[in-house]
Amino acid sequence: MTNEPLWPPHRMWFGGDYNPEQWPREVWADDLRLMREAGVTVVTVGVFSWARLEPREGEFDFAWLDDVLDGLHSAGIGVDLATATASPPPWMALHHPDILPVTRDGVRLSPGSRQHYSPSSATYRRFAERLVRAMVERYAKHPAIVAWHINNEYGCHVSHSYDDESAAAFRSWLELKYGDIDTLNDAWGTAFWSQWYGSFDEILPPRAAPTFGNPGHLLDFDRFSSDALRELFRAEAAILRAATPEIPITTNFMGFFKGVDYWSWADDVDFVSDDSYPDPADPFSPIFAAASRDLMRSLGGGAPWVLMEQAPSAVNWRERNAPKPAGMNRLHSLQAVARGADGVMYFQWRQSRAGAEKFHSGMVPHFGEHSRIFRETAAIGAQLGGLDDLIGSTLHADVAIVFDWDAWRLLEQQAVPTALNYREIVLGWYRSLWERGILVDFVHPHGDLSRYSVVIAPAMVVADTQTQEALEAFVDGGGRLVMTASSAIVDEKAHIHLGGYLGELRNTLGLGIEEIAPLAGPDLAATGQAPVPATAITGEITGEARLWREFVHPSTATVLSTFDDPIVGGWPAITVNHRGDGRAWYVATMLGEEATDALVDLVLADAGIPTTRERGSTIEVVRRGNRVFRLDHATGEAAIEIVDEVGDDTA
Ligand code: GLA
Repeated sequence: MTNEPLWPPHRMWFGGDYNPEQWPREVWADDLRLMREAGVTVVTVGVFSWARLEPREGEFDFAWLDDVLDGLHSAGIGVDLATATASPPPWMALHHPDILPVTRDGVRLSPGSRQHYSPSSATYRRFAERLVRAMVERYAKHPAIVAWHINNEYGCHVSHSYDDESAAAFRSWLELKYGDIDTLNDAWGTAFWSQWYGSFDEILPPRAAPTFGNPGHLLDFDRFSSDALRELFRAEAAILRAATPEIPITTNFMGFFKGVDYWSWADDVDFVSDDSYPDPADPFSPIFAAASRDLMRSLGGGAPWVLMEQAPSAVNWRERNAPKPAGMNRLHSLQAVARGADGVMYFQWRQSRAGAEKFHSGMVPHFGEHSRIFRETAAIGAQLGGLDDLIGSTLHADVAIVFDWDAWRLLEQQAVPTALNYREIVLGWYRSLWERGILVDFVHPHGDLSRYSVVIAPAMVVADTQTQEALEAFVDGGGRLVMTASSAIVDEKAHIHLGGYLGELRNTLGLGIEEIAPLAGPDLAATGQAPVPATAITGEITGEARLWREFVHPSTATVLSTFDDPIVGGWPAITVNHRGDGRAWYVATMLGEEATDALVDLVLADAGIPTTRERGSTIEVVRRGNRVFRLDHATGEAAIEIVDEVGDDTA
């Protein structure tokens, strides 16, 4: 082993999940041959190997894995070694059924698929820790290992469990947070509906109940559930860090995944990694994928990350699974590199012959190496080899979008003014910026805003004092802030900001809100298929206003546009408040595309940020280091140009 650090890598990671235990040994040699041919540098091994590594309780068998790791090492391929704790073996559920998770409706889930453990199960955790100790004892010094890959997609299938052990863990979490029960009663507003608790012992998880649950209870259970998974991650990481501090640790995130607040996890990983499966049949996919890449980069504070999983072609878990047309695999891979990834990996290396994912594409498909999938994938491997000099380089964004898991959780609770989709609202603003060639960072409401000229905070329904102060300071420092409807309605306890919503942001925005007036169509509840209810706005910016309206009272803000409809006609729809060199725009609705674009153009021009892309162009242009990536999502063509300037910037 050399003494060079393992992260950042010296070669771009290129490879995928490698599951040799699914295949007879004769195939392993062929795997190595094809991996070399495809330019594979790293594979992730052992993600679902627990049943093979510990076939009976306490009985470990590493011999086969020794051979796999030795073979890979002799082929010059690094190993991202999984801790294998993602899917407990059948014996565990049989002899220790207390590990099994329970749904909100009280159904205890059975083994037979994967991830069948309650995040709060002490038994599961004990077994997981024992396996990790055995793994690290065996492989701490293995020269093939380039990273530890803890578990797999925490929370993907089970992000919340409502079992009794989780109930007890939730109570402890609450006690730690609130200290005494009166503080909790106040935070949850339990004076309503006779929900007052006499002690922490009376609290249960928010299991299926006659009607709407208590918003504070639901929010805290979401926060607790994310933390419970993080505790599992941390328990494994502590064992690994103690034994092999030089080996970097990651766990694969899932992009915009509601169940786990990745902001709170990001500091615990040595590098961020992500699994990304944009639907090839969805024309919005390039934008959605770009946003996921930007989120991953942002979670790591701008540091390079790894695209840990993507599909070489079709997946098998949608109702209809479209293949990737020629070029798309390459485009998605290069898009990740352009937006800060130092590695591109797949699920999985060899397409399975049996099991639940046998129809999911693999780098080596059922047909074998003489296939379009293998050829295209190998070509990407070759191309990535030529981008090694980009490793470690970062990007700089002038524009940030506030992204907050608490806002997501609260906005999509029941018993709210109208059903909204947080991710869709955020991506609506992202789309407009993407189409203008503007690189975007995502930022936590408590993150460092001073790095940006423009900050957009869409539907940020919750704002605590720190957030209010940070946004005000941003504007007072000369920043351009755009806030949209359904923002800062509540504080961190989900209590209403009385007297016009918005809290202190009333000063920043120069207005208050008298009443929320959602738009509704008669069929929405019955079919869920009704068109999005919309009305119009008129003035400096015209266009469609969707889903949500407010009766806004400007104090110091200037009105740019007003509503044009029978209920809120004439009331402000878009305003701007000047504070020194800074400006704060407020949008009292969810704008349609045309109006969003008009406002984005206005704000970018005001901030002096040039747009680099022609309207209607299908070519995504991103600069990283000394490369300009031009990715044509209409034709599938990609071009990478070397430019003179080397630095932290984008096109
Ligand atoms: C996830 C999992 C993989 C596999 C893929 C299929 O990313 O981590 O094990 O199931 O989905 O798309």
